[in-house]
Amino acid sequence: MNNRNNKKRGGREVAASPFPPVVALDVGTTKIACLAGELDEKGKLGKITGTGNAPARGMHKGVVVDIKDASESIRASAAAAGATEGAGGVFAGVAGAHIVSMNRRVSLDNPNPDGRVTKAERQALLEKLKRVDVSPDLTLIHALPRQYILDGQDAVTRPVGMWATHIEMEGHLVFGAISSIQNLVAAVEGAGLEVEDIVLEPLASARACLEKEELESGVMLADIGGGTTDAVIFSGGRLVHSAVLPVGGNHITRDISVALKVPLDAAEEIKINHGHAQSHLVEDIEMARFPVATAAAGSERTVTFSKKFLARVIEARVTEIFSLVHKQARESGYLSSIAAGIVLTGGSSQLEGICGLAEQAMSLPCRQGTPSNAATVVDIPSNPVYATAVGLILYGSERIFKRGPGRPAEGSTHSLGLWEEVLAKVKGWFGRQSKT
Ligand SMILES: Nc1ncnc2c1ncn2[C@@H]1O[C@H](COP(=O)(O)OP(=O)(O)OP(=O)(O)O)[C@@H](O)[C@H]1O
Ligand SMILES: [Mg+2]
Repeated sequence: MNNRNNKKRGGREVAASPFPPVVALDVGTTKIACLAGELDEKGKLGKITGTGNAPARGMHKGVVVDIKDASESIRASAAAAGATEGAGGVFAGVAGAHIVSMNRRVSLDNPNPDGRVTKAERQALLEKLKRVDVSPDLTLIHALPRQYILDGQDAVTRPVGMWATHIEMEGHLVFGAISSIQNLVAAVEGAGLEVEDIVLEPLASARACLEKEELESGVMLADIGGGTTDAVIFSGGRLVHSAVLPVGGNHITRDISVALKVPLDAAEEIKINHGHAQSHLVEDIEMARFPVATAAAGSERTVTFSKKFLARVIEARVTEIFSLVHKQARESGYLSSIAAGIVLTGGSSQLEGICGLAEQAMSLPCRQGTPSNAATVVDIPSNPVYATAVGLILYGSERIFKRGPGRPAEGSTHSLGLWEEVLAKVKGWFGRQSKT
């Protein structure tokens, strides 16, 4: 993956990128997706050099539950993407029920005699925003300023250089359990890779799937994966709410397995090949047959089922997921700001009829979101299961570009040095553990 030497492209010598390679790792409940890429000379993601997708082991509801198994899956996915040991910084996604998020408002009086706001006040407000009393088991992952209020005037996004006596900042904070992050970092390191930064998974999916106009108008994104449904809301271009719900496509599969009395792998295939989320669109008489292996070696039985019955089973679970998503929107206080509707992504967004059910259940316009935001420049995987990985590689490319060629990592811009704090805590934990 050495891209520092000049290379021949189309028969002519082109200057190689001065930037190190970028690696994105989506450690999901069902699959580990890995994308490796190169930045061009201008620092934009210029090329996806490798794609990996390996079944996830050692994962449950978005978190690592077996480091060794998870490491092996990560290693397999990274190897398929060509991101082997020492491949450079990895940008990894984080999710799970341990994620806690909140909105906060902090303020200070402008100490400058000329009354102008400087970078120092902006930084002081950010530090104040981050200083919040939460459980010592949690660590901050993102601190994202949303808007500034200068002497009561809201909607200010760039306060530096403006005049004000009283400055307020509103922002969104995302926390995760130190232990869960430690397990994630250990699993990645166990695969011989080094974590450069972690990003909340739905934030990455949103980066890959949402349009600028949607972000401005107000939009909700739900990434319905295997073990979790991750939701984020943007209003006025800024993140205003984030949540990770511990329910996803695996629950639908399990319901089918129980309802049709078939093993999980058969239920998974039945869901993908015959499933529908809106039972009223399925004819009463439609029947399907599916061969299921039996305990006796080499023999199988055929299961015959009504497709309407199957759709009813799926619809019940997906309706439950949407009622949880809708509750998030309601309780965030931003439901009325979601003018552009809801965008569904993640593997389970491929379920037939799911957008129709979302519109019916939540009274919001719905579309399926596929990773498209870099499509004009690079050939990215357009399947929604890659939404998080594509967002991570776009984010990682920006990070690497901002820190400049060859310079060491200096902490994430999204949280202004926050990752060093997180990593220090996580590493501190490792230190303490390895001594015992
Ligand atoms: N065509 C399809 N129709 C219905 N469901 C599908 C389809 N393809 C994949 N899925 C479901 O998508 C889920 C996996 O999605 P995804 O790869 O986004 O999850 P993940 O990232 O591994 O998990 P999570 O984000 O929850 O940790 C599985 O439950 C799978 O059954
Ligand atoms: Mg996922």
